Amino acid sequence: MDAPLERQAAAAHPRAAIVTTCILAALAGLMFGLDIGVISGATQFIQADFKVNDHMIEWIVSSMMGGAAIGALGAGWMSASLGRKRSLIVAGVVFIAGSLFCAVAWSPQILIVARFVLGIAIGVATFTAPLYLAEVAPEKVRGAMISTYQLMITTGILLAFLSDTAFSASGNWRWMLGIIAAPGVLFLIGLFFLPDSPRWLLMRGRREDAQAVLAKLRGDAAVVRKEIADIDEQLKTRQHGWSMFGQNPNFRRSVGLGVLLQAVQQFTGMNVVMYYAPRIFKDMGYDTQAQMWFTAAVGLTNVLATLIAFAFVDRLGRKPILYAGFTIMAVGLGVVGTMMSLGIHSRGEQFFTVGMLLLFIVGFAMSAGPLIWTLCSEVQPLQGRDFGIAASTFTNWVTNMIVGATFLSLLSGIGNAPTFWLYAALNAVFIAVTFFLIPETKGVTLEQIERNLMSGKPLRKIGG
Ligand code: BGC
Repeated sequence: MDAPLERQAAAAHPRAAIVTTCILAALAGLMFGLDIGVISGATQFIQADFKVNDHMIEWIVSSMMGGAAIGALGAGWMSASLGRKRSLIVAGVVFIAGSLFCAVAWSPQILIVARFVLGIAIGVATFTAPLYLAEVAPEKVRGAMISTYQLMITTGILLAFLSDTAFSASGNWRWMLGIIAAPGVLFLIGLFFLPDSPRWLLMRGRREDAQAVLAKLRGDAAVVRKEIADIDEQLKTRQHGWSMFGQNPNFRRSVGLGVLLQAVQQFTGMNVVMYYAPRIFKDMGYDTQAQMWFTAAVGLTNVLATLIAFAFVDRLGRKPILYAGFTIMAVGLGVVGTMMSLGIHSRGEQFFTVGMLLLFIVGFAMSAGPLIWTLCSEVQPLQGRDFGIAASTFTNWVTNMIVGATFLSLLSGIGNAPTFWLYAALNAVFIAVTFFLIPETKGVTLEQIERNLMSGKPLRKIGG
């Protein structure tokens, strides 16, 4: 009998411990969302203040994604050496510093640098938080935890849109960009109360600490012993990402799939709306106040439609939801493009076009938004999981940057309507990509997916 473990487990309040832990870690999702959302309302005021052209605005928007790509690359190493908790603390500190730096930026160039710094924090957090959540959550609520994380992202975007709307009356973009440091401080304080990840503690040979954390989170000595034995077993499979990538063509296929999935998510065009919604509403003929309120409506729609994914993903499966999502997105954007080419004259036409843009948001939020992240964590074999997820997360940010850095140029280069048609066409192509390349992973264990992948089955068949 392991008396201290029995005592620790008996003294624990596991439900409270797990709820607080997960809420705190999910706050990283909120930071992610704030960061994505905050810039859209600020750009027009930055543009007026610094007297810069669209091209410079694209750089100011997308330098954040560049920083995030670098942060995501470094995060694997950092979360292995410093630990998940300390990596998140570093991300929290850099986040606060980065947002204050944005608020005081004295030139467009400095703002680009400040947004890059802010991005590094988000890159680290977007890699580390889901990893941490998966490591502390009990098996039966793991799926729900990852979905909660996406809900927090969309909530962060909505909060940023609302706060931008509030500041838009004064046009003070410095407050818009600086205010997100406040939730950052709460996040940072909360992080100090997080336990270290038990899995990371075991990786470091800190067996007693791991046991104490698990006792607190699970409250049952037998469950703790079993989980420690399971983690020990898993840790025998060391991470061999790089060498496996060089040697194993099947692993190259799953890494390629993760990269493709994230590129698909970004080329739906979702972030065009996240970053430039007020500008899009301006082109539809709305004044500044209306632009801001419609942007807030976009944020709210995004949160609510994410709940649709929660309800259906384990019932209908991934692929049917993706087919529906890409179809809705293609239609929504196609119609927005058509309305722009016909000219939007009456009130009715304006509302209809806004409605179609919101339909596009629904399509994304109920499908590719949450599902791509889920799929990316499901398709990698155990030995290469960290490497595979780092590669796909990196791709998310690089393609996110490409989308953000080209939108205004596309508008002025090929015109409003063709830009929306281009993204509509891409969404139509993604229906075929889903058919030919994406596996259905509903109800399949990760071990089975790995076996199918390694036996050389086509990617679309590695699920069932
Ligand atoms: C994407 C982000 C996007 C957000 C919108 C996430 O899944 O990765 O790029 O801004 O969804 O809700």
